[in-house]
Amino acid sequence: MLSTLIYRSRLSPGCCPEALSQIVAQAQTRNAALQITGILLFDGDYFLQVLEGPDSAVNLVYASIRRDPRHYNLVELMRDYAPLRRFGNLGMELFDTRSYAQGSILEAVLQKGTSRYNLAYDDRVLKFIRSFVEGQWRAHLLECPDCQNWRFTSRDNAFSLPILLHDDQPCQFALQPIVEPLSGQISSLEALIRGPDGGSPAEYFASVPADKVYEADLASKNYAFALAKRIGIGNQKIAVNLLPMSLVMVPNAVEILLDQIVRNGLIPEQVVVEVTEDEVISRFDEFAIAIRQLRSAGIALAIDDFGSGFAGLSLLSKFQPEKLKLDRSLVSDIHMNGPKQAIVQAIINCCSALEITIVAEGVEKAEEWCWLQAAGIQRFQGYLFARPLLNGVPPIAWPDNAA
Ligand SMILES: Cc1cc2nc3c(=O)[nH]c(=O)nc-3n(C[C@H](O)[C@H](O)[C@H](O)COP(=O)(O)O)c2cc1C
Repeated sequence: MLSTLIYRSRLSPGCCPEALSQIVAQAQTRNAALQITGILLFDGDYFLQVLEGPDSAVNLVYASIRRDPRHYNLVELMRDYAPLRRFGNLGMELFDTRSYAQGSILEAVLQKGTSRYNLAYDDRVLKFIRSFVEGQWRAHLLECPDCQNWRFTSRDNAFSLPILLHDDQPCQFALQPIVEPLSGQISSLEALIRGPDGGSPAEYFASVPADKVYEADLASKNYAFALAKRIGIGNQKIAVNLLPMSLVMVPNAVEILLDQIVRNGLIPEQVVVEVTEDEVISRFDEFAIAIRQLRSAGIALAIDDFGSGFAGLSLLSKFQPEKLKLDRSLVSDIHMNGPKQAIVQAIINCCSALEITIVAEGVEKAEEWCWLQAAGIQRFQGYLFARPLLNGVPPIAWPDNAA
């Protein structure tokens, strides 16, 4: 299949623009052997490159290009498939936008086009090229700040050490902190359910009879709150996950939850209930009643896994929680993924307008954190900072700027 890939990057400070003609000459030879065609636009600082060819060849060349230290902050903008090549005669042609009179570069690029049809009819490739040469793309530009200077130092915390369980406990919890790295504060501890032998949530719920899942889900929270008490949570917040249908299907669910909270010496204001969108959307009226009860009691709400599967705009349009947790699928490699960046920037704008706090989940790389922090997110959860610890609070790796 004929695939098209567009990325943007920036010339590295150590690499002079004069080296470009040599890069392009070498690229042409390699591209010819791999049946790659395309164009390279350069504005004196940034590149926009269109690569087209067989899928596997495009992937191969792009992997080399990504590793190339002569440019940085490389962001993939588009991957698509086409019936014909747009630049079928060009092994790789360099267009230095500074060498063209204003308004003439687009015409020069189009003259080299080999597919009239692809370059017409609302073509996205053409739109990316136009935006680059006319400068509109800068309105969306958010670069990953250099994160080389951050050093992560693991520090213990004041909570009690991991504790042993009661023998009769059907499930247990692992705690994972949600942190504000720049202020060095823990914003809450999320309690993640595990089976009696440490198995995953899916394993635990698979062991529960199908008609008892919602009751078991609700009842399990008592162990999370008991753990919070035993590690000496103080005035820290604890977040628990709840299947939204548990709030609908279990009679007096909110009262049961409140009773568990109070029985373990906590107050509702330090509890966050995280829900993900699932079949509850079809019974939203009943769910909405439970939400009102939770809010009336002082409990905070979060939409979990936002941006994955069902957890998305439909639920957010119906109710606006205190917190929204960005799913790890949006977070992973966001520093080099244009579509994810555009989606997350839109979510940030939306949450800013609605005064909803965003937490980025599943952060594993310093670059992901740096990009998201630069975009305006302050709260993070993920292995970069701390892994969940069974029955205890793990040490947290806090960033220090060594510059
Ligand atoms: C802006 C830019 C564009 C490039 N375009 C291509 C290209 O179209 N084809 C290519 O083979 N190499 C291209 N290169 C060079 C590759 O990054 C890489 O150096 C080369 O493919 C050799 O890869 P290797 O070191 O993995 O063997 C480009 C480099 C830069 C900085």
